[in-house]
Amino acid sequence: EKTWQISSSSVPPPPSSHFVGKRDDIIRRGRVTKLVNGCRDVLVVYHHGEFHAMDMRCYHAGGALELGDIEEFNGRVCIVCPWHKYKITLVEGEGLYQAVDNPTVKPLITHWRSKGVKQRVHKVTEVNEDIYVTLNDSRETIESDYYQTDTYRSNLRIQ
Ligand code: FES
Repeated sequence: EKTWQISSSSVPPPPSSHFVGKRDDIIRRGRVTKLVNGCRDVLVVYHHGEFHAMDMRCYHAGGALELGDIEEFNGRVCIVCPWHKYKITLVEGEGLYQAVDNPTVKPLITHWRSKGVKQRVHKVTEVNEDIYVTLNDSRETIESDYYQTDTYRSNLRIQ
């Protein structure tokens, strides 16, 4: 399912979506973070004409994805977490890594592989130059969920 769409100006924003900013403002800044619906810290990124949204803290250890570089690996656009360089696809939230075929064969031959969806991505809709995020409420647990919990937030406050 596509996570980014532009709606015609005659159509209202999706019912459970939340305004996160003006289109031009997000484009100018490249990325913004927002507490959406009072419960989820979301990063919204503008990249090559499209908007993407995902949980703001990296699934690995809560790294600040808003400070990550955007790069392509194996033809897939990823945000690279500044903490330990994990690569997360912008569209799906998949964790990518380089696997070694056979460690005894030199030089090593590596392939990009996916660990599956690790970061929860959300849907972005543009209506009348306003950008809205619809939180992805799928029931399955996704690893980045942990860094959105009250337990994690209250630990942040204590530190
Ligand atoms: Fe993101 Fe470790 S916290 S790579």
